[in-house]
Amino acid sequence: MADWVERVLPSPTAMLESTVAQYQREGRTVYRLGLGQPDFPTPDRAKAAAIQAIQDNFTGYTDTSGILPLREAICRALHRDMGLSYEPGEIVVTVGGKHALFNAICTLCRPGDEVLIPVPYWVSFPEQVKFAGAKPVFVQTDASAGYKVTPESLAPLVNESTRLLILNQPNNPSGAVYSAEELLRLAEFCRERDLWVISDEVYSAFVFKPEGYTSIASFPGMRERTVVINAVSKSYGMTGWRIGYSAAPAAVTGAMLRLQSHTTSNPSSIAQQAALAAIDGPQDDLTDIRDEYAARRDILVEGVRRIKGLECSVPDGAFYVWVDASAWRGQALEGRTISTADDLADILLTKAGVAVMPGTGFGSPYHIRLSYAVSREEMENGIAAMESILGSK
Ligand SMILES: Cc1ncc(COP(=O)(O)O)c(C=O)c1O
Repeated sequence: MADWVERVLPSPTAMLESTVAQYQREGRTVYRLGLGQPDFPTPDRAKAAAIQAIQDNFTGYTDTSGILPLREAICRALHRDMGLSYEPGEIVVTVGGKHALFNAICTLCRPGDEVLIPVPYWVSFPEQVKFAGAKPVFVQTDASAGYKVTPESLAPLVNESTRLLILNQPNNPSGAVYSAEELLRLAEFCRERDLWVISDEVYSAFVFKPEGYTSIASFPGMRERTVVINAVSKSYGMTGWRIGYSAAPAAVTGAMLRLQSHTTSNPSSIAQQAALAAIDGPQDDLTDIRDEYAARRDILVEGVRRIKGLECSVPDGAFYVWVDASAWRGQALEGRTISTADDLADILLTKAGVAVMPGTGFGSPYHIRLSYAVSREEMENGIAAMESILGSK
């Protein structure tokens, strides 16, 4: 088999998903605090558009880059939500955000290039970089810095091989959201050091700070060195439809399109029509969902802070709480000694029926990630089950 098979690890989130599905098939109760799957359904307008597409026999190949009305709607949404100006020729519609990232990483990275990845990171970034033959360079962050990087934390890691920064905000798993001032400083740094940025914005609909969301691509000189990635998956409860997109300068878009033309071709024609209806319709339902997430976040943070050995800060976006479980390191629990958060997650799943994501796959083996994209009831039951095993403060 090829070299990459040795280098690239399986996705831990996908593995947890299949374990939870197995538990559910066996009829066991599982409180699903581990997964990044929104519990809000796909909007009715998107479902109706997909049904209409089937009835209209809109079931053939489309342009590899996606249908023009969808790319035009994406341009309008980028302008509406981020103040960004793109042409439809700078958009590629992809099979989920993950695929847009893959296109971008494979297009921008040459073998031996170094890619700056802030820790904690979403599990697929380093694996996709390794697949492309480039080298992930991890930039540590901590709770006191709000899990954010700065020019000062990046500078010592930059050398002549450094090509790219992968910036994901709101961050999965930490929920960190950068302010406009912080982004301006990062943008200046990337320009000075001639770095490209992949800006993963798949959680941009869920920012709880009154200032809202700012894209790094909106700063002077950044549009030409940034690939913006987004998707309908998280914002519209459409993870299974597999529609994401990239917005990037024409030359990079052309190269990504060439890759896509020889791999997946266009994403599903039916799902494209559904995405068009979701993105273009009235967006009021998003505000309600965001408010509900904000309320759940507060419940989850309060619950975590009650439990022995767990600490967390209040995240500003996405739908995760990043929990520091390092106090459990070396402690005995349920007849075992906890070495990393993987042990803790295993005990929580097998003894309390609570699925949590250990931080190891996110670059931080003493954290766990909890998701509040589940009903309040499931979340509260999950917290109570965790507390019964771990104890209270
Ligand atoms: C940060 C981040 N980027 C990209 C993705 C991929 O999204 P999609 O389901 O659209 O491929 C995810 C999904 O969990 C994510 O958390």
